[in-house]
Amino acid sequence: MQSDWIWHNGEFVAWDDCKVHVTTHALHYGSSVFEGVRCYATERGPAVFRLQAHTHRLFNSAKIARIEIPFSEDDINQAILDTVNKNGLGACYIRPLAFRGAGPIGVEGRKNPTDVVLFAFEWGRYLGAEAIEQGVDVQVSSWRRIAPDTFASMAKIGGQYVNSQFITMEAHDNGFTEGIALDYNGNVSEGAGENIFVISNGVVYTPGLASSILLGITRDSALALLKDLGYEVRHEAISRDMLYIADEIFFTGTAAEITPVRSVDRIKVGSGSRGPITKAVQDAFFDVTSGRVPDKYGWLTSLKETVAGD
Ligand SMILES: Cc1ncc(COP(=O)(O)O)c(C=O)c1O
Repeated sequence: MQSDWIWHNGEFVAWDDCKVHVTTHALHYGSSVFEGVRCYATERGPAVFRLQAHTHRLFNSAKIARIEIPFSEDDINQAILDTVNKNGLGACYIRPLAFRGAGPIGVEGRKNPTDVVLFAFEWGRYLGAEAIEQGVDVQVSSWRRIAPDTFASMAKIGGQYVNSQFITMEAHDNGFTEGIALDYNGNVSEGAGENIFVISNGVVYTPGLASSILLGITRDSALALLKDLGYEVRHEAISRDMLYIADEIFFTGTAAEITPVRSVDRIKVGSGSRGPITKAVQDAFFDVTSGRVPDKYGWLTSLKETVAGD
């Protein structure tokens, strides 16, 4: 996991030289906001998936965290494309990160300057190469997702990911690929880094904002694809037991893409293999991201068309 260049506050620096001081506020207090973005290898060259949506969410996270980003959204969009291009990458994962930097020690932190970095590296399937077809085995976590009056579930704030770490570490220790967290009411919220869709009798259910979810960009894409495929989608509170009797379950996320869940707490989901609705959404998703079908949603930003001087 490495590439040659990291974009740091508007300049490219060599990967090994991009360092921070130990007084960096974010190291102590989790005061960072970040994104995870994928660039796909399409038939017309590399293309970033939902570039503007990711950058916009980064700025919204910063607004919620009261972190000033000293760049415009357009600057960051261009910097993302430049970082992929400068490193000569094709299919890759891109990590934009803004954080309260070195300065006074103290929780408040607004006197510390903001640092912005962007790096990218080649990346395969997050939950394992076979997971896309075979599905993953998951558990319901003993850790709850953050309550709405404790943290800000709509924001990707670094410190909040301690909650996701607890969920994932517990799942791995128990032999599962991922954990699903319940919300503060005990209803299904989401995976440690994925949104969840549950299918029963041909109807697709997914938790809404009141269940402390991150408004995932892949979730939004799946919702658009499901609508176009003609499926009914309901945004409802989902109880834990519904996971056990569902016909199909799938995760969505930039890292996980669209991944079937084949068991929950060792109980088979449906027949225990990828279901037809999950496959239909996956096919539609990978058709768009590979550039095999016209990009009617405007989700892809092609590097060739956008990188200055290319
Ligand atoms: C907690 C959490 N939920 C859901 C998601 C999925 O969001 P997206 O599809 O925008 O990657 C992520 C990943 O960013 C996440 O960290």
